[in-house]
Amino acid sequence: MSNDFSYNGISSVAIHAGNKSFSDSSHLTPIYATSTFTFDTAEQGMERFSGKQEGYIYSRWGNPTFKVAEETIAALEAFKLKDEHGKPLQLKAFLHASGQAAMTTLLMCNLKTGDKILSHYSLYGGIHELMHKVMHQNGIEPVIVDMRDLNKVENALQQHPEIKLIHIETPANPTIQCVDIEAITKLAKQYNKIVSVDNTFATPYLQQPFKYGVDFVMHSTTKFLNGHGTAIGGVLLGKDLAFMNDKAYKWYKLLGGNSNPFDAFLLIQGMKTLEIRMDRHCSNAVKVADFLSQHKAISHVNYNGLASHPDHAVAEKQMKHPGAMMSFELKGGLEAGKKFIDRLQMCVRAVSLGTVDTLVSHPASMSHYGVSREERLQFGITDGLIRMSTGMENIEDILQDLEQALQDL
Ligand SMILES: Cc1ncc(COP(=O)(O)O)c(C=O)c1O
Repeated sequence: MSNDFSYNGISSVAIHAGNKSFSDSSHLTPIYATSTFTFDTAEQGMERFSGKQEGYIYSRWGNPTFKVAEETIAALEAFKLKDEHGKPLQLKAFLHASGQAAMTTLLMCNLKTGDKILSHYSLYGGIHELMHKVMHQNGIEPVIVDMRDLNKVENALQQHPEIKLIHIETPANPTIQCVDIEAITKLAKQYNKIVSVDNTFATPYLQQPFKYGVDFVMHSTTKFLNGHGTAIGGVLLGKDLAFMNDKAYKWYKLLGGNSNPFDAFLLIQGMKTLEIRMDRHCSNAVKVADFLSQHKAISHVNYNGLASHPDHAVAEKQMKHPGAMMSFELKGGLEAGKKFIDRLQMCVRAVSLGTVDTLVSHPASMSHYGVSREERLQFGITDGLIRMSTGMENIEDILQDLEQALQDL
């Protein structure tokens, strides 16, 4: 496929944008299971190390299978977006071993001891712990506010001039709260701050944060991008190509959080069906949210597609569709939650999200186990909260399973 081809639809980007012709005419991206790459001569080795000649050196530094995945995700996040000069937006991506690894590179290459990170109070538990334990111990303090309130964000920026980076997860885990990317980025730029967005729940099909001028996007590719639950992975994307090719690349190589060729291959295969999968996940989710919100055993449903969700308007503004993630509270609390989960016959009891099958988890005892109860309750993560990643099964089967599991609760 020519690099100049202008794609009309995002499925074509997902299928073709990263694909290059391989020397052996392989149709699919080969799995380059090699740790190192050869040089014809010492001179060539020198040229590659000095950057005068393009080419691979060592797989921690880059690998042709990673490159296809990286270019595909970069093309998806930049799809139909323009840079400040009106030219097609160019992004650089680095494929990581996990979402956590991508986040680590993002934080480490932007922050140093004495800097602070501003973030929202509802966040994936692992990222929350990374900020509060690892980064904090290294002198980088997190400042946590309700980022849906712009006044609170501005107050924090004024009170903590050390804040260098604002990190947004939207929709957020597991409350499905949404933060207004455009409004926060505008404010951040007035104060000269860096903005990063965790786009894991939405995927670039539903939300493109670079549209609003953010600096970095990261994903846990483990989720909807892979789509089949076959590999852990993460990606960091940036639009400042000089920074990405220099400092971010150096930190990526030195921290050693790179992906591996087999997982990259699985991700490439998964991404090809992103659009069609997301459409099915999303249409099922709307019906599930409708069903749950009318059920007498449930006190409330957090799904930003419901008009009753406090962030419905923000989700409508920045997302193509509210997505496939939701959480809900059983009136019977923890005991009812446990019974409900144990009774499921088709939906799967597991953490993680974004796989073809419906996954149901209990954040208090699973994803947010490492967050104290007191803190958890502040975030709206109550003892009886159930999180659901709506799968692609037949909707009648999902509803039937939920109905029987909710019986008499
Ligand atoms: C929103 C979000 N960000 C980041 C991560 C971390 O990703 P990984 O598990 O791939 O390291 C997760 C994992 O669940 C997540 O849900």
